[in-house]
Amino acid sequence: MTEPSKEAVCVTGANGFIGSWLVQTLLTTGYTTIHATIYPGSDPSHLFTLQAASKANLKVFEADILDDVAVSRAVEGCTGVFHVASPCTLEDPQDPQKELVLPAVQGTLNVLEAAKKFKARRMVLTSSISALVPNPGWPQDKVFDETSWTDLDYCKSRQKWYPVSKTLAEKVAWEFAEKNGIDVVAIHPATCLDTQEYHWLGAVHVKDVAKAQVLLFESPAASGRYLCTNGIYQFGEFAERVSKLFPKFPVHRNSREMPVAGVSQRNRTTWRFNGETQPGLVSCKDAAKRLMNLGLVFSPVEDAVSETVESLKAKGCLVQKMSHS
Ligand SMILES: NC(=O)c1ccc[n+]([C@@H]2O[C@H](COP(=O)([O-])OP(=O)(O)OC[C@H]3O[C@@H](n4cnc5c(N)ncnc54)[C@H](OP(=O)(O)O)[C@@H]3O)[C@@H](O)[C@H]2O)c1
Repeated sequence: MTEPSKEAVCVTGANGFIGSWLVQTLLTTGYTTIHATIYPGSDPSHLFTLQAASKANLKVFEADILDDVAVSRAVEGCTGVFHVASPCTLEDPQDPQKELVLPAVQGTLNVLEAAKKFKARRMVLTSSISALVPNPGWPQDKVFDETSWTDLDYCKSRQKWYPVSKTLAEKVAWEFAEKNGIDVVAIHPATCLDTQEYHWLGAVHVKDVAKAQVLLFESPAASGRYLCTNGIYQFGEFAERVSKLFPKFPVHRNSREMPVAGVSQRNRTTWRFNGETQPGLVSCKDAAKRLMNLGLVFSPVEDAVSETVESLKAKGCLVQKMSHS
């Protein structure tokens, strides 16, 4: 029996880190019509090196998300829209409104307008934990969940523009969805290794983010916001896990430990955290229970760390620093 063909879908920001993994996941789960948007003038060739990619199943559209006509062209014919494109940088912008807020907010509105015009049945919006935290008003001793919203005044007063851009973009999406009857589901990935979010809650393998995006599109019952992290815990604990995997790298540690053969004690005592790295953050293993209840099984974060290290080494971005004992 042949598999029923899957719907045509559009992925914005297909050239990016999460976007590429999403395209890969869609291709390997049987999607045969994928409209991939890329920033005008950028090179899409790596998309065609993905497993199962071909000119037949992957159509590339050059579209600045601020260009409503180009966005509309890309979404036409699709019943599903994965909106991933958004400026994602940790560098301080010179003009935060122009560089971060406008493309995040107006870009989201342009994609929603196109989804409405072509009657897409669902849009999966890639939000972020940066739309959930920082939230200094969150009750002490309570695990962060999808009911938390980033405190915009707190961020603006500290010039934290990326969380502002992600929060405002998500807010306009919910308003638009409510007003126009569009089915929007939002995913809030924590730090995907290779890149980083402004605030730490936990980490997640980028492959799991892509799987979750597809799951949210395909699950009729999905609605609202979905935190996507393999647990909530201190960054110090994460560093501890990384240092155990790669004891020869000078990774920050929480406390003095037993010496490791071949690792200089000088390195080990210099690179240390004192106490909690996120004071008051309440740990929780199954923080993404909404996604887990839909069937998502997270990969161990250690896999993501090892794969990231291997990838960085292969690209020559990471040179193993051996100890001088
Ligand atoms: N990485 C993480 O840890 C993480 C965690 C949570 C949420 N997120 C969210 O996930 C999404 C993807 O992030 P990423 O990590 O994959 O970053 P990324 O690699 O920088 O991907 C962002 C993509 O958006 C595109 N883009 C930005 N501005 C655009 C514009 N005006 N018009 C068209 N395309 C534009 C970029 O194109 P160019 O590269 O060609 O400029 C890029 O392909 C973002 O919405 C981000 O906020 C990321």
